[in-house]
Amino acid sequence: MNSKIKLILVAGARPNFMKIAPLMFELKKSDKFKPVLVHTGQHYDEKMSDLFFKQLGIPEPDINLGVGSASHAVQTARIMKKFEKVCIDEEPDAVLVVGDVNSTAACVLVAAKLNIKTIHYEAGLRSYDRRMPEEINRIVTDSISDYFFTTSPSADEILVNEGKKKRNIFMCGDLMIDSLVANLKKVKKIAPKLKLLNGLQLNPLSEFGISNYGLMTIHRPSNVDNINHLAELIKYVGNVSQKIPIIFPIHPRTLKNINRFELRGKLDSYKGLMVSDPLGYLEFMSLLKNSKFLLSDSGGIQAETTWLNIPCLTLRENTERPLTITKGSNKLIKIENIEDEIKLILEGKGKKGKAPEFWDGKSAERIVKFLESVF
Ligand code: UD1
Repeated sequence: MNSKIKLILVAGARPNFMKIAPLMFELKKSDKFKPVLVHTGQHYDEKMSDLFFKQLGIPEPDINLGVGSASHAVQTARIMKKFEKVCIDEEPDAVLVVGDVNSTAACVLVAAKLNIKTIHYEAGLRSYDRRMPEEINRIVTDSISDYFFTTSPSADEILVNEGKKKRNIFMCGDLMIDSLVANLKKVKKIAPKLKLLNGLQLNPLSEFGISNYGLMTIHRPSNVDNINHLAELIKYVGNVSQKIPIIFPIHPRTLKNINRFELRGKLDSYKGLMVSDPLGYLEFMSLLKNSKFLLSDSGGIQAETTWLNIPCLTLRENTERPLTITKGSNKLIKIENIEDEIKLILEGKGKKGKAPEFWDGKSAERIVKFLESVF
């Protein structure tokens, strides 16, 4: 019997998990591949990692590098050092990385130097803003990968313009949407139970009706690392929360800065601003699906709101996902426009969009078919 192709899949941080889940399921079905899941441990909290594995049904990682938090250089170096040993011990035929986090760039660099074939899912995204660490990770990862899976035609174009061979690029659709489609029933089912969520003070929701709220997530350095900017942002959002409650699950990095800048009192002074710990995938998707709008600086949620057709106000100067603007319900805004933009949404003038037709829940299937034809 021919031995199977050993494929290491790398997962490191929260936004990776919903991309890895459908791929793991599909690869496990294939006779050709033996997937080995490596978790770098970039995210490690129960709520940032374990809960996602449980809810998405991802098998326990075969190997956990347990690198934890550190500066970018130290975290990247730790991942590289440990992942090199894994590659030497495991001798994989290929390494597949997803997204644009530090774990993505670190692992692809290690694999490429060991002459192991490298595959990048979510290739060709560019914000052209090198102040974002993710942009550096994208450029590094794409510059040394052998195969590229993309989520939009513009990503293909970018890669071709950067000199990549067309035959190594494959537009497969969006794996995050695979996860969303696969979990939609569960997402719908847990909606009525949301009141039971730990730490959420959902009382105002019953006053306003269950779907009359906005949802917010912020964690990017550009929004949370400067005290004045963060204070202003809380003020604008706080003002809006007097008209419509806003649920705000706080990323650990954001919470750290709110405490460090002594802004917790200000945050808590707005009754309509409902703060919670980071939420699980199902709880967050359920809240998102029923919300009036999302206010965020996240990357992936721009795609998820587009698919759900929920107005998404992105607190960034640029996006690496232009399709969510040209086709979808996403809009880039400045913090000083938050109140006006939300007013428009509440008047029924929020941006509407359409999901690209290839975001259909079958991306993992297409990826595995392509890989079967290559290896
Ligand atoms: C990382 C990704 C970012 C992604 C985000 C989603 C990079 C460069 N950034 O940013 O692209 O959008 O994940 O969450 O890879 N922390 C915890 N518990 C955890 C993880 C982090 O408390 O499980 C705290 C630590 O104090 C850490 C800080 O959050 O220093 C930031 O974590 P890190 O992984 O460095 O970056 P994120 O901001 O989460």
